[in-house]
Amino acid sequence: MPSDSGVGAAFATFDAGDTRRENRAADPAWFRRVLGQYPTGVCVVTAARPDGNRAGMVVGSFSSVSLSPPMVAFFPDRSSTSWPKIESAGRFCVNILAADQEDVCRRFAARGKDKFAGLEVGTSPSGMPLLDGVVAWIDCELDAVHEAGDHYAVFGRVSDLDVASGSAPLLFFQGGYGRFARHSVTELDTRGDLTAGLRAVELIRTEMEELAGKVAGRCIATALDGGEVVVIASAGATARRDASGTLVGQRLPFSAPTASVLAAWADEDRVGQWLSRMPSAGARTVQREHLTAVRQRGYSLALRADNTSALSALDLMEADPSSLAGEDLHGMFAQLTYDPSEDEVTPGTVGLITVPVFDEAGSVVIALHVYGFAEPRSAAQADEHVGLVRAVADRGTALLGGHADSS
Ligand SMILES: Cc1cc2nc3c(=O)[nH]c(=O)nc-3n(C[C@H](O)[C@H](O)[C@H](O)COP(=O)(O)O)c2cc1C
Repeated sequence: MPSDSGVGAAFATFDAGDTRRENRAADPAWFRRVLGQYPTGVCVVTAARPDGNRAGMVVGSFSSVSLSPPMVAFFPDRSSTSWPKIESAGRFCVNILAADQEDVCRRFAARGKDKFAGLEVGTSPSGMPLLDGVVAWIDCELDAVHEAGDHYAVFGRVSDLDVASGSAPLLFFQGGYGRFARHSVTELDTRGDLTAGLRAVELIRTEMEELAGKVAGRCIATALDGGEVVVIASAGATARRDASGTLVGQRLPFSAPTASVLAAWADEDRVGQWLSRMPSAGARTVQREHLTAVRQRGYSLALRADNTSALSALDLMEADPSSLAGEDLHGMFAQLTYDPSEDEVTPGTVGLITVPVFDEAGSVVIALHVYGFAEPRSAAQADEHVGLVRAVADRGTALLGGHADSS
């Protein structure tokens, strides 16, 4: 099992007999913990007074309020030293931070120093500080301030607003920073992936057949197409001689923990997409560690562990793709143990070896998988299998004039 697959079932029920819930709404740590389950964007609210004095503070509590008149709101802490300066300016600018502006966020969340020192700052139409590289900005006149517990509720009347970079925003969730990943992958620029993959496969077709023969197993190649992993070639004798179907053309979601080789050398957007179905920040961290392990090793391993059904499902699917139409194939594969640390690898349990083929840009163009071989009898035999797969993948990389992206 992946080491962090718990989906929080323990929190799903309400236990009336639990004494810990007595007055827990008044417990700040509990309040923060529960409210931390709600993600927010991150803004820096800035203001400049006529004497040139500037102020800025990070707020996650920004919200759009009204269209007519156009109004927004945020909630400064009563203890904030920046808020009184913003209030005295009588107007403010909301700077929506981009995903790569975590450093700007930390700077404006820290108290006491000159938060603007050394920073590229422009001016909004109303003369408020406009930070470089933000996603969008909203210029406001202070409209109303209400007391709200230990915070104020501040309403601003929007005087002007614009999209600046329009890039992905910085998000805050469960006490950590992150970025947005779409469920729909239609916006990913992956056109051409499949063609490049098919070309790569064609270059090593003979070697793939030989490889399958040498390990007495199956060898398949997969590539990313849109947001899915698609099987683009298959070699080796199928487990069922009467097989009428083919794996080629079968699609699986591009989602952790499977297909780690297609994510390990990818950019942050694609990694974010690969991680997006993970249930928790902890699970995402574990998967990121797996990607590091894959990069260090240069390939990916999955252990059969107690679940051989995932691997035999590939054979079943090949025999009759419709037989698995209703199955949760991804769920089945996710039960394999992927990319274990060195000391967890028992040679006899290695069930799937996946090696990348790189293109000239240093991107993984296809993943070459070998499975369906007899359980390796020793570490040396498992290493030998890995060596054989690597040799074919490296040949593909060489023929493409490719190299691993070392950045
Ligand atoms: C992600 C994030 C969200 C925050 N949201 C708010 C908020 O909504 N209201 C608030 O008063 N402070 C918020 N803070 C804290 C303030 O930014 C920070 O403590 C404050 O600006 C620094 O002190 P100062 O106001 O005295 O300069 C947030 C901080 C972070 C990191």
